[in-house]
Parts: sequence; structure tokens; C-alpha cells
Amino acid sequence: QFVKAYAPATVANVCCGFDVLGFALDAPGDEVWARKKETPGILISAVTGVEGLSADPTLNVIGVVAQKMLTDLNLEHGLELQLHKGMPVGSGLGSSAASSAAAAFAVNALLGNPFTTQELVVYAMEGERLASGSAHADNVAPSLLGGFVLVRGYDPLDVIPLGVPLDLYASVLYPQIELKTSLSRSILKQEIPLKKGIKQWGNLAGLMAGLLMKDYGLIRRSLHDEIFEPERSVLIPLFKQVKDAALKAGALGCGISGSGPSIFALSPSAEVAHDIKNAMEKVYAGSGIETK
Ligand code: HSE
Repeated sequence: QFVKAYAPATVANVCCGFDVLGFALDAPGDEVWARKKETPGILISAVTGVEGLSADPTLNVIGVVAQKMLTDLNLEHGLELQLHKGMPVGSGLGSSAASSAAAAFAVNALLGNPFTTQELVVYAMEGERLASGSAHADNVAPSLLGGFVLVRGYDPLDVIPLGVPLDLYASVLYPQIELKTSLSRSILKQEIPLKKGIKQWGNLAGLMAGLLMKDYGLIRRSLHDEIFEPERSVLIPLFKQVKDAALKAGALGCGISGSGPSIFALSPSAEVAHDIKNAMEKVYAGSGIETK
């Protein structure tokens, strides 16, 4: 008997919260199916939805996540897993995180829930380590816990689901070029000038307060990133034009989704979100770059 879990795409960083803030979308998402097998070890019997993903359990995030859970629980039996991808890899939508989160959730349910959902974040982070060389939690935590999630600290891990009480809509545009997280992390400077740091933590605190105080004006003033966006946006064709178009169409803010190339914009109503989507798409029309 297979257990099936779905985990959604996520938008990490949310402008000013590099590696510490993310939120879950409703869709797209990935499915992982899991069932016990008598013999030890992990078998990945199907990978569908995208081309070229390995079914080797040591090279696919779902295998790595599941193996770590089996090892920590000292279980002798093995697992058969299937992965059905609902989104492209290298899109900036937390694709590897959704697979890792779905794997952790499915295996946990199959085994009778030995771990809390918060504990599963640590296992899903192992998938991120494999996929990008860095075990960040700002995609896996919202993919597992839903809504906006703050990663207050990594050592020890302190994950705070924010339970944001206001309506927010996300328009997310995926320009169909592949951008590996490992590459868009490798180009970042390792030092932050004090002035820029002050702006960034002011904005992150402002965003937190705005989300929890239901203050759209404060959210609008806070959705900025003057540290990473200038370094990374050069990898995304027409980024500046898309951002300008989204803001002109009424977005509260607009930025790179995770490590890109997807671009997200937040707005207070479904109507504005739809206008933003149209405005963003228009920028790429005729550019030779397909969008979703
Ligand atoms: N916070 C991570 C980064 C998210 O920006 O590199 C990657 O999906």
C-alpha cells in the first residue's frame, strides 16, 4: 500500500529575508509515493514529470531524505518511492525542496508519524544540502508547514510558522531558463557593507511587523533587497523591466523568487494579482524567452 504526499512550491527570501523567510504557494507542487519493502535500502521505482532526474537514491533528494529517516529510526526494512514532479527544476520555486518535503511527509506518515512536522524540516533540509550544497530551510519549512515561515536561527534550528492573518496574493512568473541554486549562490559576495545590512534588517523587521499587523503600507515599504537582488538579477533577462511592470500594475513589492529565475510579486487582491501577471508576461512577449 502506497502513501502519497503532496508538497507545494515556495517563494524563498521574499526580498529582504535571504535564507530566513519563505512562503508556500498553493500550486504547483510535487508528489511522493512511499511504501515499505521487505529488503533493506531505498528503491526509486519511478520519476515522472521532468526529464533527466536521477532515480539513484543517493543522487535524488527523495532517496537521501528517506534514507536519513530510516537510519535515524534504526529500521531494517527498506522503502520503495516514486516521485511525480509538478514543476521544473532550477526554476526558483523550491523544486528540490518540494520533493524533499513530500518525501519526508510521505515516509513519516507511512511509518506512523514518528516525527513532528517541525522535525521533518531537518530531514527535508538534507535534500537541499544534496541539491544546492547548502542546507537552507527557507523553502522546505514553508513547503512542510504552510503559509509564511521564518527561520529565526539555524544553530539550533528555530523555525517559526507566522500564521499571517491577512490576504495576500502572489503572482509568480517563470522565465523558462534554468538557473542552478548552486550557481546563483556561488556568485554572492561573502561580506555585507554595514549600511546595506542596516537597511536589510530594518526591512525584514518591517515586513514581519507588516504581515502580522495587517499593514499593507508597511509591507510595501519593506519589500526591498539591495544586497542580493543587484548581484543575482544580472542572471535573469529583463528582470528590471518585469519588476517595474509589476510595481506599476499595483504590486506591494516584487523580487526574485528564491535563487531565480522566477520572479514573484505580492498584492492585496486576486484582481491586482491577475493584472500583475498580465503585465509581467507582456514584458517577455516577443523576447524569445517562454514564460509560465
Ligand atoms: N535562500 C536560498 C537562496 C533559496 O536564495 O539561495 C534557494 O532556493
